[in-house]
Amino acid sequence: MDDCGETGICPVKVTKMFILGIESSCDDTSAAVVRDGYILSSVIASQDVHRQYGGVVPELASRAHQQNIVPVVDAALKQAGVERKDVHAVAFTRGPGLLGSLLVGVSFAKGFALATGAKLIEVNHLHAHVLSNFLREEGREKELPRFPFLCLLVSGGHTQIIVMRNFLDMEIIGQTIDDAAGEAFDKCAKVMGLPYPGGPVIDRHAAEGNPEAFRFGKPNVAGLDYSFSGLKTSFLYTLRDKCREDPRFVEQHLTDLCASLQRTIVEILMHKLEKAIRETGITEIAIAGGVAANSGLRDALVALARQRQWKAFLPERRFTTDNAAMIALAGYFKLLNNLFSGQDVVPTAG
Ligand code: KG4
Ligand code: ZN
Repeated sequence: MDDCGETGICPVKVTKMFILGIESSCDDTSAAVVRDGYILSSVIASQDVHRQYGGVVPELASRAHQQNIVPVVDAALKQAGVERKDVHAVAFTRGPGLLGSLLVGVSFAKGFALATGAKLIEVNHLHAHVLSNFLREEGREKELPRFPFLCLLVSGGHTQIIVMRNFLDMEIIGQTIDDAAGEAFDKCAKVMGLPYPGGPVIDRHAAEGNPEAFRFGKPNVAGLDYSFSGLKTSFLYTLRDKCREDPRFVEQHLTDLCASLQRTIVEILMHKLEKAIRETGITEIAIAGGVAANSGLRDALVALARQRQWKAFLPERRFTTDNAAMIALAGYFKLLNNLFSGQDVVPTAG
């Protein structure tokens, strides 16, 4: 298995093969094309329909995927200048995710493979998030993590510390025992009356607020595991008590509440990440997943890495949340190892 050697620039195996990626695990329908590890196109259709419900409604998500998938794939192929018959393999998210949503992507991929003769490659959504750190465009080279590296994977459904030993070998050494970090952002945002998804909204308000204004409870969990349910409760109780005294409390302190909450979540995340670095001795650190777009987390990791002389890797913001470019790229590394799926493959929720 190739790694990135001393230079940090991974050798590219020239296969000249186009891989179509399909992502439909939650509420984003996405398609992308990569060739030899480089992105040629990436198209994402987000589903606004969930906003009015304050969270993802699974039935509505699968219906929207059905409506979006054909135009999204067409747009990705067109942007890449690739015809259907030239696609060598179609990589798709098999799971984890919402079953009804996954089913749309998996069925589309199987149909595409049958119709065009392309090979099928199943991809684990979490693995793909980690590999988003290797996404790059031709002519825009960047330094990439070298193996082994640690990845803090923080999304709406997962919070994990992972050791990556090569492109296909990942070991989870810590994870949340209850809510995910993204869930903590989203649930606290909901309590403040902010729209879904709350993470990016809190991030924007936090930039204007004082992170020292409020203190919220932090977990005390053994090992490298995380917990966010206590923070959520502590946040909820603070708001309940303050709003009793002043019903306009949230409105008047919104930016300080967001800044203090974000600071607490980032501190919780960084505390265990630092512990993992101490315990493993691995000092190449990447982040991935939707919460990796968070300004507070990105700044904290870069600052600490500079101070301790670690190497920090941040995926571009557009590749932190769900996207098919990361699925196609994970498909590329599986293709190099001849890891293909059959027409009998089915989605897995967990
Ligand atoms: O990776 P992702 O798109 O979907 C899952 O696989 O879960 O992550 C979505 C999560 C949501 O919880 C969203 O609020 C959070 O990522 N998120 C953010 C930011 N952008 C997205 N959280 C904090 N700050 C952000 N800037
Ligand atoms: Zn995701």
